[in-house]
Amino acid sequence: MIIPPHVLSAARQIDTAGYVYDLDILRSRLSQIEDALPLKRKHIHFATMANDHTNVLATIAETGHGVFVNSPLHLRLALSSGVAAKQTIYAASNMSGSEMRMCLNVGVHLVLDSAGQVASLDAIAPTNTPVGIRVNAGSAIEGPSLALEASYRFGLLADEVDAVQRSTRNLRITGVHCYFGTDILDPRTLLDGLDRLASIAVLLPDLEYVDGGGGFGIADDFDSPAFDLAAYGRGAAAIIARLEERLRRPVTLIVEPGRWLSAPIGWFFARVIDVKPRADRILAGVAASVVQFPRMLLHPEKARHPCEIVDGRHRLPAALPVWVTGNSTYSRDFLARGAALPNPKVGDLIAFHNAGAYCRSMRTRFLGKEDPEELFLHAPDERRPLVDAFANAAQ
Ligand SMILES: Cc1ncc(COP(=O)(O)O)c(C=O)c1O
Repeated sequence: MIIPPHVLSAARQIDTAGYVYDLDILRSRLSQIEDALPLKRKHIHFATMANDHTNVLATIAETGHGVFVNSPLHLRLALSSGVAAKQTIYAASNMSGSEMRMCLNVGVHLVLDSAGQVASLDAIAPTNTPVGIRVNAGSAIEGPSLALEASYRFGLLADEVDAVQRSTRNLRITGVHCYFGTDILDPRTLLDGLDRLASIAVLLPDLEYVDGGGGFGIADDFDSPAFDLAAYGRGAAAIIARLEERLRRPVTLIVEPGRWLSAPIGWFFARVIDVKPRADRILAGVAASVVQFPRMLLHPEKARHPCEIVDGRHRLPAALPVWVTGNSTYSRDFLARGAALPNPKVGDLIAFHNAGAYCRSMRTRFLGKEDPEELFLHAPDERRPLVDAFANAAQ
């Protein structure tokens, strides 16, 4: 995967380490996903946990799409970046009464995680408040295909749904939601989930939408085939069409991609400071830490980022694998493990791809490192001030 020249010229300004994002790539990916869903009624809600920078959120707002948030902080960031409350889905588990009240005041659409949470909101919501429910329709968190675990921590069980929807006085349950896992590369897994979700959706007399969550994968290496978005779109349209036919009413499809939309918009760059040749590997020490680029810290077994030495393509590959090490005393401070790179040299700039998702949003204070520099290309010009509705409601 070639790094665009304008991204590279921005990266060359980075002294030690930092992120470069190109928001035109985000715009293009939003159009791709929109075009790939051949449905009349569809909404794309970017999952802000993937990237919570206000430039990213302002780009989502500028393109007219919505967001999916799961915390007051992300709600505030989204609203202050220009996302409309009515285009915001707020879902969390174990929401407190004050969190629910704040959401009602701001006017976001809430998705509730349990029978107890439905009862709590029903007790304080105005009449006729539309909400969604998260249901347990299976999860592929632990393996490549969906498994239905009754003890899974999220959502209502399918056999709780009817009683819950009959029990509400003020709430109208207009949607079902499920999240099947992250980084799923086979669209059939997500479609299987969507189909299961649709079969639970028929239990809701007020149904207006089905929210199939995120999970659209980005392969960790450039040789693996990309997620087949067109196949997902065709399959999803067929599932929604069957549901509409069965219910004789229009149904909207909602998706909440995080990684697929934002991973390829960003790169992390780090300068080589020290090189240690070892018997079985080369240690390339950079002026950055895994805490600043933390997907590998949180998911050491799974997460990988393709990486390359900038301007190093003409150099021969090193005879040994390269381990990119961080500038701390933490023994697992690795930004890459066993990478196939040319022999690293002091002063080289290493580029890590797919750094736009679950990187800046996962930074941690562990090890006491500064937040790395972030450069944004093609950012929206106009930034809107904090929306008063949130500031007032949040008090
Ligand atoms: C409910 C929900 N929706 C969407 C997402 C985004 O997922 P992904 O980045 O895998 O698309 C997440 C991520 O955790 C989530 O919890």
